[in-house]
Amino acid sequence: MLPSEENPTPLVRLNRLNPHADFPLYAKLEWMNPFGSVKDRAAWALLRDLEERGELANGRGLVEPTSGNTGISLAAMARARGHRLLAVVPNKVPLEKKVLLKIAGADLEVISDELCPAPGLGDGSINLAKTHAKASAHKYAMPNQYENSKNVEAHYRTTGPEIWKQTEGKITHLFVSLGTCGTVTGTAKFLREKNPKIKIIAVQPTEGHDVPGLRNISQLGVSKLFDSSLVDDIIEVDFHLAYTRALDLCQNEGLLAGPSSGLILEGALEIVARDKSGFGVMIFPDNIFKYTSNMIKHIPGLGSGTQP
Ligand SMILES: Cc1ncc(COP(=O)(O)O)c(C=O)c1O
Repeated sequence: MLPSEENPTPLVRLNRLNPHADFPLYAKLEWMNPFGSVKDRAAWALLRDLEERGELANGRGLVEPTSGNTGISLAAMARARGHRLLAVVPNKVPLEKKVLLKIAGADLEVISDELCPAPGLGDGSINLAKTHAKASAHKYAMPNQYENSKNVEAHYRTTGPEIWKQTEGKITHLFVSLGTCGTVTGTAKFLREKNPKIKIIAVQPTEGHDVPGLRNISQLGVSKLFDSSLVDDIIEVDFHLAYTRALDLCQNEGLLAGPSSGLILEGALEIVARDKSGFGVMIFPDNIFKYTSNMIKHIPGLGSGTQP
């Protein structure tokens, strides 16, 4: 069952990593969605829209560029409803995610680094998916999470209302990362309508990053869903910290959060130190299970002692 105001993903308070008593920080655990990430919300909205418009009739499948999470959600949901998904995936996506995509039932097309120079998700995979959708229109419909307003709407209808209700309207700061920007735009739009004073803080990795699912400022152009009028601050964080902060969350808070959550935490702590009082909510997109190889790369000690 997908989350809703009545059945939201959990909101939990950080106890040990935030020293500021006047600025509690809460994490919204999006890995509690049925297929393990925040992308369940967008995937469901995209899939239902295609179905309702008759785009998936006569055995027509889906094709989508994905750094993993959207593909995993879409593949699992599509399979359950009798459709196939071709996921176009950049090679730099961790092996765990590629295998999970296959387990979820996706067909994979992995493209080389040359075709996809951006580490998270490049124009290469987006263009290739578009080419498939055009050249084989009878075979594939492309939801296009980067341009489809249903992505934003999913968060406007679910993530925003859940946070408003769970915090009883007390939220002062929202901390999010940027990929397609569906999460930030949809959630911020809803929350700002409830209280225009809520600060929306986007946290991005530094250039050259290897945090799957995320974009830094130079890569943002690809997402048509980014609305700068809804964002108060964009904080850039050294991408290595995404991994060390994720480990902090695992070992100090009992939250097995993934690297994009680690990045968001680092940005949130900077703002907490700056603004001193408030009520913060961080959207934690997924957990650490898909990133063990990336973790070893950044924190080599995690790999030692794992062989006889
Ligand atoms: C791990 C992870 N974090 C954050 C995001 C960003 O979410 P959005 O695409 O809604 O901006 C994504 C999106 O794919 C993701 O996979």
